[in-house]
Amino acid sequence: MANAKSVKIHVIYYSMYGHIAQMAKRVQKGVEASGAQCEVFQVPETLSQDVLDKMYAPKKDEKVPVITHDKLRDALINCDGIIFGYPTRFGGMPGQMKTFWDQTGGMWMKGELLNKPFSIFFSSSTQGGGQETTALSSLSNFIHHGMIYVPIGYSCKQLGEMNEVHGGSPYGAGTLAGQDGSRQPTALELEVAEASGKHFSEVAIALKIGREALPKKEAATPSVPQKAVQRDRV
Ligand SMILES: Cc1cc2nc3c(=O)[nH]c(=O)nc-3n(C[C@H](O)[C@H](O)[C@H](O)COP(=O)(O)O)c2cc1C
Repeated sequence: MANAKSVKIHVIYYSMYGHIAQMAKRVQKGVEASGAQCEVFQVPETLSQDVLDKMYAPKKDEKVPVITHDKLRDALINCDGIIFGYPTRFGGMPGQMKTFWDQTGGMWMKGELLNKPFSIFFSSSTQGGGQETTALSSLSNFIHHGMIYVPIGYSCKQLGEMNEVHGGSPYGAGTLAGQDGSRQPTALELEVAEASGKHFSEVAIALKIGREALPKKEAATPSVPQKAVQRDRV
């Protein structure tokens, strides 16, 4: 029988300037507080070093494993829930994260992510800079895979704080980086990140326990040419 300890949660993020990377650590702490196991990964960079230099992007945290193509299945399938973190790009998902998703056609065809719970946390420069549109406009990726969105809602009282500026919303934890990126995640934003990890993980634990009683469902295969499926299968 499943219990909290048997539940594995993966945190998968992209971070250019380190804000999301910092939030990921607190999300992990929240997951672990629920009794579940947690591993943190980052998706590969897609921009050239030349471009990154021009954007003043610092070096990435080398202690956090990068999900190379051969590790993709393991990172997405071999867990009971996934928490994604990414900064907004024009109110949407960054290309690095989209490229990551665009490699998952084989899993989509086989319904391997069906019913897997997920949540998202965000970073934007400014308030109103698009954290909520980033959630909404990325949903199609998860929905087509049949994944289950576990937003934080108002399960965390800090989200209702009106006496200080903060990121995050019922759609997920969030931080505001400032227009020059110098603002760092605040204590409140980090507390919400931790609470979101715990909230998500508790739902994932309940789902794992409940699902043991359910019959396993196969995906109704969408129409993609078989040759393409063979070639792209990962
Ligand atoms: C190409 C590009 C587009 C961006 N679009 C937005 C935007 O629409 N709204 C916003 O508030 N911030 C925007 N930003 C700022 C990033 O969201 C910000 O740098 C990021 O949240 C910092 O997180 P990180 O340190 O984890 O990379 C954009 C940044 C870049 C490079």
